[in-house]
Amino acid sequence: MIPLELIATLRTATHIAVLTGAGISAESGIPTFREAQTGLWAQYEPTELATPEAFRRNPKLVWDWYAWRRTLVANATPNPSHFALAAMETHLPSFTLITQNIDSLHQRAGSRKVIELHGNLARTKCFREGVIVETWEETGETPPRCPRCGGFLRPDVVWFNEALPAEAIKTAYDKAGGAEVFFSIGTSAVVQPAASLPIIALQNGAIVVEINPTPTPLTDRMTFVLEGKAGVVLPELLQSVWGN
Ligand code: OAD
Repeated sequence: MIPLELIATLRTATHIAVLTGAGISAESGIPTFREAQTGLWAQYEPTELATPEAFRRNPKLVWDWYAWRRTLVANATPNPSHFALAAMETHLPSFTLITQNIDSLHQRAGSRKVIELHGNLARTKCFREGVIVETWEETGETPPRCPRCGGFLRPDVVWFNEALPAEAIKTAYDKAGGAEVFFSIGTSAVVQPAASLPIIALQNGAIVVEINPTPTPLTDRMTFVLEGKAGVVLPELLQSVWGN
């Protein structure tokens, strides 16, 4: 049940910003970071694989983990929550979608403008020089080597202890600060700086809304908490506000 006050606010709001996390892709079959992994990778903690130190220690292990995630993503399809956000963009004059996800599922659902805070799994870059690499020779070595400098290649994603893309985080801060309504969806809200975006919105007078089946450290500070799966709550919200 979507609160009537929220429905009324959304009907007249112009500036809306949304932050998404791994939970929004959970219903597409992509495991979140903080849930136990199954199968082949069950013995590893994602937070211990997604670091430059892990890559230095064991580049093959980290490359293989991302290769597995790439296959998962390639076989996944966007779910109703991704489609609802793509539709929301068409209803609003100023809508900003900020994601911590690296899976392109928002874009595949039709979202046109997506600010990617943590990079994208589909891109590859040189670990040594940081330049994007589009093609390389497959020699059977894992990870493959940069055709320019011979260093290892890595996914163009942000790892723990690494800086976020400057332009993306700057735009995200600006849009959070200027939002009338800010949604925090499917994120555990523990990884900085993304987790501070709802707080920036709140401090600048926004109505903040969390959509998550489980409470997070930010739940108590939210104006509205829509407890449930994003794939259920978002289509219901869209229907309640815009009728589709
Ligand atoms: P997490 O794995 O930390 O949290 C996923 C959140 O989604 C949890 O709060 C779940 O309760 C919630 N959730 C699960 N299923 C859901 C559903 N169907 N609908 C809505 N919510 C659901 O993922 P993130 O918060 O995205 O960073 O993690 C943040 C960052 O930490 C990631 O981008 C990644 C990770 O380590 C890096 O790799 C740098």
